[in-house]
Amino acid sequence: MNQLNFIRNFSIVAHIDHGKTTLTDRFLEITKSVEKRLMHQRFLDSHPISQERGVTIKLAPVRMQYQTKNKILNSNPPAGGYILNLIDTPGHIDFSYEVSRSLACCEGVILLVDAAQGIQAQTLAHFQLAKKLDLKIIPVINKIDLQNAQPEKVGVDLCINLNFKPDEIIYVSAKTGKNVTQVLETVVEKIPSPKGNPDQPLRGLVFDSFYHPYKGIVVYLKIVDGHLASGKLKFLATGKEFEPLEIGYLTPKMEKTDQLKTGEIGYIATGLKDINLCQVGDTITSSKLKTRAAGIVFGDARQNSKLKPLAGYQQPKPVVFFDFYPVENKDFPELEQAIKQLKLNDVAMTFSLAGSAALGKGFRMGFLGVFHALIIQERLERDFNLDIIITSPSVEYQIITKDNSLQLIQNASELPDFSLINQIKEPWIKASIFTPSEFLGNLFQLLQNHRGKLIDQKYYGSYTKLEYEMPLIELIEGFYDQLKSASSGFASLDYQLLGFKNFKAAKLEVIIAGEKVKALTSVTEKNKGIYKARKLAQKLKEVIPQQLFEVPIQVSLNGRIIARETLRALRKDVTAKLYGGDQTRKDKLLKKQKKGKKRMKQIGRVTLPQEAFMSILQIK
Ligand code: GTP
Repeated sequence: MNQLNFIRNFSIVAHIDHGKTTLTDRFLEITKSVEKRLMHQRFLDSHPISQERGVTIKLAPVRMQYQTKNKILNSNPPAGGYILNLIDTPGHIDFSYEVSRSLACCEGVILLVDAAQGIQAQTLAHFQLAKKLDLKIIPVINKIDLQNAQPEKVGVDLCINLNFKPDEIIYVSAKTGKNVTQVLETVVEKIPSPKGNPDQPLRGLVFDSFYHPYKGIVVYLKIVDGHLASGKLKFLATGKEFEPLEIGYLTPKMEKTDQLKTGEIGYIATGLKDINLCQVGDTITSSKLKTRAAGIVFGDARQNSKLKPLAGYQQPKPVVFFDFYPVENKDFPELEQAIKQLKLNDVAMTFSLAGSAALGKGFRMGFLGVFHALIIQERLERDFNLDIIITSPSVEYQIITKDNSLQLIQNASELPDFSLINQIKEPWIKASIFTPSEFLGNLFQLLQNHRGKLIDQKYYGSYTKLEYEMPLIELIEGFYDQLKSASSGFASLDYQLLGFKNFKAAKLEVIIAGEKVKALTSVTEKNKGIYKARKLAQKLKEVIPQQLFEVPIQVSLNGRIIARETLRALRKDVTAKLYGGDQTRKDKLLKKQKKGKKRMKQIGRVTLPQEAFMSILQIK
């Protein structure tokens, strides 16, 4: 009996909120993978942030066992039935990299589409990715119990636009469980078993990892060839050898086992503490390996270097940058430790040291999008109990100087003097927007305001897919919310990075009470410079509290002051003494500042509450 025939590795892909995690809950129930009393909604989204926001933020693998009702397929299965390895994936576009990692371990996907919302931008993007990887795609229409569901219409759309046959489509309600067993039956019947070779030396593809306080770095892997039992292992890319503390499956809790066979998905607790030794996408092999076929001993690790590493993943490139600072400078070492731990679980995030006179020591962090950054901020605050200040988002600019050297900067404050710059380039994206056609007028206007260039327009029944090219900075400065309001919430978005294009830029600098505030330096499009400078000066005036002296607020564009506001000084309360009190407003203010000492910030001579300071950093 070839045990590979009884394994199915698959993933559910869908637009955000179309019901992946809820469908997974039903799978866990049907396969009795989780005890009934322990079962709760959206089980795989174990992280509290996921639970609260209702958004999957991490891929999560789970192994289930399923006895098929199909008599032909059910001939002679192993005890417990088919092994179904499902990898739940995040739906938000910022996390699409996680989807591509999950798919690299699968032979098939369930393409889940909401019966009320129909095909959306990410339905198309995931469909195309699964096609490209040559995976078996099972179309499933979900939420048929909803009052406004239009399953027949969505079914027709799937057939016309994505070439499915009507009888391939399964109509389910992940909420009530209707027809969900049929989906599992189809997974067993239609998704191919993994193709690896049990007789080859061990090669396992690492597709995720996290840090466990006792077990060290734990990696999730798919055994592509050979099998994994006892003995020393090693990472091919870093060359690090280690004696595993434990191997096992995720059911979804970690369950120890004595071996992982070809095609299976499981974990290894490495016992390693240094996160640099483990890279997602690396290949794990045995450092002293016997091939079962020929009984050849491969000997020491050096001979294994002949072993071809598996195709890893393209390192994801962060596109949005924020500076993260601890509110209290003394918390810097804890912040560093926490970021290193999160990094292990999040290959897409990057970090390097940053510093600022106003904010002290911190980190420049790179993310796949603004939502990704906010999730990390929330995790640092909640999981590690840290108070964090983050600056407003920036993208990476290419600076070509007059002496023809190329500089990459991720923060406007690093811009060299404009007289030394020949050219500035900014990153552009290709945005695909899927919208009901009635909102086209609004969207054309919106995209024009965001420097968008229409490239293509395709009709899908009553929907239209627009392809636009636009600067990435426009996307991260509130575009998504505006897209939703311009389309009454119906338009959806997917995007890819295109490359760098010329940018007619100007540098905005803020001077408060005669002091330049580096953390507020920004780059803007030249045409919008004057408008932005004035808006910035007005907002600063609103946010900065009155001081005991007059505070001039100035904004310069390429070194020339073009906007100015004046914050009047707090007047002494000269009447206070008349009423017997000897406390002036000055005393009160000083007392208040002293009391809240921890939460105050200083910009030059100006003292302001922490919250006001943070809201200044968010001003665009
Ligand atoms: P992300 O991981 O954030 O992309 O979401 P998801 O695709 O995992 O969706 P999730 O399972 O979190 O479901 C989104 C919402 O739809 C939740 O409020 C679910 O309760 C609801 N939902 C899911 N399936 C059904 C269904 O069949 N019927 C109804 N009525 N609601 C459903």
